[in-house]
Amino acid sequence: MTAVKSIAVLTSGGDSQGMNAAVRAVVRSALFNGLEVYGVQKGYTGLINDDIRKMDLRSVGDILHRGGTILQTARCLEFKTEEGQKIAAENLQKRGIDGLVVIGGDGSYKGAQKLSKLGIKTMGLPGTIDNDIPFTDFTIGFDTAVSIVVDAINKLRDTMTSHQRASLVEVMGRSSGDIALYAGLASGAETILVPEIPFDLEKVAARMENNFAHGKRHSIIVLAEGVGKGEDFCKIISEHCGMEPRVTVLGHIQRGGTPTHNDRILASRLGDFAVSQLMAGDSGKACGIIKNELVATDIDTVVSTKKEFNHDLFELALRLSK
Ligand code: ADP
Ligand code: F6P
Repeated sequence: MTAVKSIAVLTSGGDSQGMNAAVRAVVRSALFNGLEVYGVQKGYTGLINDDIRKMDLRSVGDILHRGGTILQTARCLEFKTEEGQKIAAENLQKRGIDGLVVIGGDGSYKGAQKLSKLGIKTMGLPGTIDNDIPFTDFTIGFDTAVSIVVDAINKLRDTMTSHQRASLVEVMGRSSGDIALYAGLASGAETILVPEIPFDLEKVAARMENNFAHGKRHSIIVLAEGVGKGEDFCKIISEHCGMEPRVTVLGHIQRGGTPTHNDRILASRLGDFAVSQLMAGDSGKACGIIKNELVATDIDTVVSTKKEFNHDLFELALRLSK
């Protein structure tokens, strides 16, 4: 006996690598369990416009390894209104769809919260490169985004070392410093600038100068976009040490490409978990992974909590990057 017979899945907000793997897991797990399953095109826009189609096993073939999302995604202002939410819920109900899996970031979770209050059984899956969702150690896409940044820094390091130069790499993350932190630690960056930790650019410049004077042949600064613009920081640093770091803004490159095996596995596990939670009668929850265990937390709690920054990792990166 299952609490839902028919469910839908959508992707919303900024896309992330592994969203396709999550859609595939939701669709195939639902079909395996004898449920009907629908795909909603372009997030909440598709719910309002009734752009909803039935999915079968083949609808999600050949997508596990692809970036982006076959369901497409959107930022939908109309859905923020009560009227928009009502239309969206009615479009699901008229098809007899009683459960919905929303794959997206915290904004998308707020949308799921609203639908849940209108009687749709909802489950959120953390789909964002930013890793800014609490009650999950990692979000789907974060691992791939970090790999892309690390790969870019490896390349920059080659040319910086040849010229004994400094390089500043601006990375995404909205108001979260996690991409900068993990990529900075993994690539031996000398300086990691994140919104969660105060810093003094004069000291950053002095440290850089001192390291060069003591034989260091390159200097990598990773800047999280939530702190400010790379160009502005480079100007300030050059005023303090007469050396202007070269700037690289990685931008949307960080959101594309084939997902890493970690993201594919995380997405597959979470997608399957969301379906079992809905079948068991759970609703209004966000699924996550904590210490390798799958967990479901009240969406209300998730959207009202700020994810904790990993200060230990930050300190480690500082200690190791001499
Ligand atoms: P993300 O999910 O990546 O954080 P957004 O913040 O852009 O991305 O949110 C995605 C979509 O979720 C928005 O375009 C909107 O349709 C919906 N949404 C965001 N906030 C709310 C809200 N407070 N109430 C209802 N829907 C919301
Ligand atoms: O939330 C994901 C993210 O890529 C952020 O890191 C970034 O600030 C934002 O989306 C960029 O949004 P857009 O794709 O609308 O430019």
